[in-house]
Amino acid sequence: MTVHIHQSESDLASAVSDIVEQTIRSSPDAKLGLATGSTIEPIYRELVSRYRMAGQKPDGLSFANVSAYLLDEYIGLDPSNPETYRNVIRSGFIQHIDLPDSSVHSPEGDSIDPTEQAAAYDAAVTQAHIDLQLLGIGRNGHIAFNEPGSSLASRTRLVNLANTTRADNARFFASPDDVPRQAITQGIATILSAQQIILIAIGQHKADAVAQAIEGPVTSSLPASALQTHPRVTYVLDTAAASKLTLSGVDREVC
Ligand code: GLP
Repeated sequence: MTVHIHQSESDLASAVSDIVEQTIRSSPDAKLGLATGSTIEPIYRELVSRYRMAGQKPDGLSFANVSAYLLDEYIGLDPSNPETYRNVIRSGFIQHIDLPDSSVHSPEGDSIDPTEQAAAYDAAVTQAHIDLQLLGIGRNGHIAFNEPGSSLASRTRLVNLANTTRADNARFFASPDDVPRQAITQGIATILSAQQIILIAIGQHKADAVAQAIEGPVTSSLPASALQTHPRVTYVLDTAAASKLTLSGVDREVC
């Protein structure tokens, strides 16, 4: 594993965008796994900015042949709701680049049979072979919506959201009661099938989860700890999120 620690959010966004850009330049039809949440927003802004700056050049950054797969989706929101993860990714990223909307894949949160929908989405992700998965981390150590207690062998499925997760995500909704109680999420084993994974964390409120994920035991009570079993993971952190790491015996780079 490699841990990169950045002093500023813009340096962090630039470092993650460098890896995304290299992935697309070496495989123009790369399969990207996309996360949602506040953490990932500066990275999408940086990628949009690079796309726009390079737009006029013959060797400009293009997402035209890329396919994107979302990690998760709320259950029960109307497809027109701006807070569906599909719409959040659209408005914050996809609409500003040349990646066709038809190349963006996500679980259908309004499906009449969420269990069947989850199985179909798991098959689609597995068949795609994700080249690069971007991940955030919840304050409780969740990845995607794999809450503490999720099996490390889990696949895409219907889950109940933890109270802490609903409280954390209430800021995106008019009232806490509006936060959905369920979601379809890629499972931990599904996420680990990606070729390369970047876990990004910003802020002091993530420091405990980050320390346990990187330096604690691999356990279903801290789902992000499962990444320790993956051969190609990079943790990209700001100094606050990294503040509880000891980093002994870890390949680290402080930027
Ligand atoms: C959300 C998402 C995760 C995300 C995490 C952290 O609920 N399902 O994919 O990584 O929680 O979100 P944020 O970056 O807003 O802290």
